[in-house]
Amino acid sequence: MKTITCIDDLRDLHRRRTPRAFFDYCDRGSYAEETLNANRRDLKALTLRQRVMVDVGNRSTETTILGVRRALPFGLAPVGLTGMQYGDGEILAAKAAEAANIPFTLSTMSICSIEDVAAATTVPFWFQLYVMRDRSFAESLMARAHAAKCSALVLTLDLQVQGQRHNDIKNGMTVPPRVTFKNVFDVATKPAWALSVLRGKRKTFGNLEGVKGMSAATSLAAWISTQFDPTLNWDDVAWIRRIWPGKLILKGVLDVEDARKAADTGADAIVVSNHGGRQLDGAPSAISMLPPIAQAVGEQVEVMFDSGIRSGQDVVRAIALGAKFCLIGRAFNYGLGAGGQAGVEKAISIIARELDVTMALTGRRTITEIDRTALMG
Ligand code: GLV
Repeated sequence: MKTITCIDDLRDLHRRRTPRAFFDYCDRGSYAEETLNANRRDLKALTLRQRVMVDVGNRSTETTILGVRRALPFGLAPVGLTGMQYGDGEILAAKAAEAANIPFTLSTMSICSIEDVAAATTVPFWFQLYVMRDRSFAESLMARAHAAKCSALVLTLDLQVQGQRHNDIKNGMTVPPRVTFKNVFDVATKPAWALSVLRGKRKTFGNLEGVKGMSAATSLAAWISTQFDPTLNWDDVAWIRRIWPGKLILKGVLDVEDARKAADTGADAIVVSNHGGRQLDGAPSAISMLPPIAQAVGEQVEVMFDSGIRSGQDVVRAIALGAKFCLIGRAFNYGLGAGGQAGVEKAISIIARELDVTMALTGRRTITEIDRTALMG
């Protein structure tokens, strides 16, 4: 881990240590990946403004989000199948987040269950909800998250149907993993991964145990298309707002009109996001939609941002354009695949240090001092 200096290094290691089907699932986007690429391109195009001779001796990356003081203005995004990048991946990532005093979000499509993560941690985490056709199942997930003391529910708005990821089909990705003639060499050359997954508590979706159709090795895309509810609409968000007693975060807003509707539901926060370029291909980059959305609803709800963050510089860019908080998804999964909990800790500390130095070199001592003037133009 010593020679790892940036998130790209973790990505290289993850790619070498994890079977291709799972690395690609994490790394790639939908269809022609135009939106995936636009996310990175537009972040990189934002030029930071160098300021000198500002006393930055006493600076802090701390911030308050959803009423909780955090060490850093970013947290871990919900990522499906995290426990397939490394055995018990969600538990390890949650522990790394806890150690760093940042929030961890558990995906509905996780390998470790809500109860597994709650048993292994001592601070509340966030739970991400996908709503299935069987509404009583969504209700039971919310009840389980509440019983596990999850402090926030992250409702995903942008995946009623799944954007196709070509590589998941080409790689024949299933959960639990199936060793086939095609991938036997790939799996055989990843012994540390195989050992970690074999030792891991679970081999399939921990939150969905007992749910019809989840018993056999399943292609995620096929399962989503039969189980996720495509009729989900704003009335359902109001229903969830009524029954979920904690903080509510609406994730996947990319349009000003939708942002206004989201804010009017009484949610506490929204996440400006295009699902990391994994859903509507051809949609604008998330960062390009952040300024108008933050301007429209920033007074009403806390505006968070994800989709493309790979560095502390990117965190500064997003905050400068109106985000109060960022989520990182791939970046921490690269760390996990590269080296388990230590790898996630590395990913967090890399971005934290980049953020700290970038704040110093742009002449900002606190997160609230990062505003539009931290960028050129
Ligand atoms: C699920 O959230 C996915 O992006 O695969």
